[in-house]
Amino acid sequence: MAYNLPRDLEEFRKYVRDFAEEKVKPIAYHLDRDKVFPKEIVKEMGQLGLMGIPFPEEYGGAGLTNEHYAIAVEELSRVDGGVGVILSAHTSLGTWGLNEFGNEEQKQKYLVPLLTGKSIGGFGLTEENAGSDSAGTETTAVLQGDHYLLNGKKIFITNAPEAQTYLVTAVTTPGKGNHGISMFIVDKDFEGFTFSEPYDKLGIRASITAELHFKDVKVPKENLLGEEGKGFKYAMMILDGGRIGIASQALGIAQGAYESAKDYALSRIQFGEQIARMQHNSFKLADMATSIKASRLLIYDAAKKKDAHDNYGMDAAMAKMFASDTAERITSEALQMYGGSGFIKGVDVERFYRDSKITQIYEGTNEIMRVVISNNILPRVKKDKKKPEAKKAPSLVGDRKLQIFKGDAKESAKKLVEALKAEGYTFDKKDVDLEGPIDGAQRVVAAGMGIGESQNLELIKDLARETGAVLSSSRPASQVRGYVPTDRYIGLSGKKFNGELYIGVGISGAMQHLKGIPEAKTIVAINNDESAAFFNNCDYGIVGDFHEVVPALIEEIKNA
Ligand code: CAA
Repeated sequence: MAYNLPRDLEEFRKYVRDFAEEKVKPIAYHLDRDKVFPKEIVKEMGQLGLMGIPFPEEYGGAGLTNEHYAIAVEELSRVDGGVGVILSAHTSLGTWGLNEFGNEEQKQKYLVPLLTGKSIGGFGLTEENAGSDSAGTETTAVLQGDHYLLNGKKIFITNAPEAQTYLVTAVTTPGKGNHGISMFIVDKDFEGFTFSEPYDKLGIRASITAELHFKDVKVPKENLLGEEGKGFKYAMMILDGGRIGIASQALGIAQGAYESAKDYALSRIQFGEQIARMQHNSFKLADMATSIKASRLLIYDAAKKKDAHDNYGMDAAMAKMFASDTAERITSEALQMYGGSGFIKGVDVERFYRDSKITQIYEGTNEIMRVVISNNILPRVKKDKKKPEAKKAPSLVGDRKLQIFKGDAKESAKKLVEALKAEGYTFDKKDVDLEGPIDGAQRVVAAGMGIGESQNLELIKDLARETGAVLSSSRPASQVRGYVPTDRYIGLSGKKFNGELYIGVGISGAMQHLKGIPEAKTIVAINNDESAAFFNNCDYGIVGDFHEVVPALIEEIKNA
């Protein structure tokens, strides 16, 4: 073992390693290939006491330390980085805050099922305009009698939608910067709480990641975590611990790749000798072993400090930054050592290589880790109190009219067509080829995931025919659902629409899609979710179920 641990920790390592080798490793390829969230594995982890490692036994936890926790994440990630982060996000992000800031009632209700593995935890901080700048939260929670009304959207949320409870930040007092942000316990079953389709990711594909959508979600007042206005501080403290988890995940991935490459290099004979003995490879292995050991020391040191209730935020950031940079480098070198064989699906270094990248990005990019470290080592500068509030991010589609119609679908459709006619649009070109080129098209009707099953596309096609438009879609609707061929979707990585009229149906208005239409003369959004970002980035919008809105619109266009 590369680090002298007390016997109980080594025994614990063996306990987790045996489980990982026996249960996770044999299915890791399949979990990755098919992006399967391993429900059975998570259930077994609960039964083994792994879902509540560093938490009190009185609430169903294992009563162990953060070093135990780090070892568990490391050992799982040594065979599958996706499974490792399920445990890390559950423990550090979704659970620790409840144990630390929750009251007795909240602990009994939410913490006990989390620690005993009956439910999974998630954490909702990141938003489209609040990534590294996490104080830029736009989700709001307005107190109304006995509940807060939660509205907004969180993105890139690990364990969503499998998690049952989420610790979510929202602005409760606008204008107070980070002091106006509070944290809430939000149950998956609360009305108005929905999820996006899970993302299709480069790596850690056994872990599931989706958006959280809140539309007038009534969060009971008693689900406020700790004190109002302290949510940002809690989030920062939660992330300090989370970074130990991600560092451990990176360490496990690096360890797995190193062991695999070493075994391969010992078995591979070229020029009559084991390639492991060739100096360029033996030196590489020596460097790998050294960096892995250094990562391990940094991680265990941060975990020990956390256990001792010392300040450990900087140590966790150093560990996360160093271990993740190490993982990215080592997995690349391990694949290189395999040569062409490492580039083939099913060889574990190929997966480790993809899994490693995210560890440099999430729970604070490594650039942010340097901000955290330098903030700790340099004398603190008092922030200028007069500094103006951060400005809202400018619209990606320029200044738009933002005329939104809601209520009766027929009325809304009528108002939209009148507005378009007033702008000079006519609807007499019915012979446009739906599959004609997007480049150079004057009108486009695009479908998003919000239209649901593929048979609903017929309605969207009818609208395109009536409008004299070609058919397109958002990226996920093309790549995941296959509504249109993958060379026809609009967005950052797809086609750009520069014509006159764009109508998007069931599209949320993610930044990646909006980047495909800034040059469109008129943008129309149709969505049943009033909080969809598209409504802040369009000329005209209709809030309503597309099953009602689209036929009404077709009717109005025919009459026009
Ligand atoms: N502990 C306690 N309080 C802290 C703190 C900490 N670690 N860090 C900051 N604070 C407090 C400060 O003392 C300050 O308090 P006052 O306002 O009372 O003075 C307040 O928080 C604001 O601090 P800063 O001025 O330093 O905050 P900032 O707005 O400049 O941001 C930052 C600091 C380090 C850049 C922070 O925004 C940050 O960590 N950004 C990265 C966000 C991040 O890690 N996101 C990850 C999302 S979760 C995820 O990725 C999960 C996953 O998928 C698995």
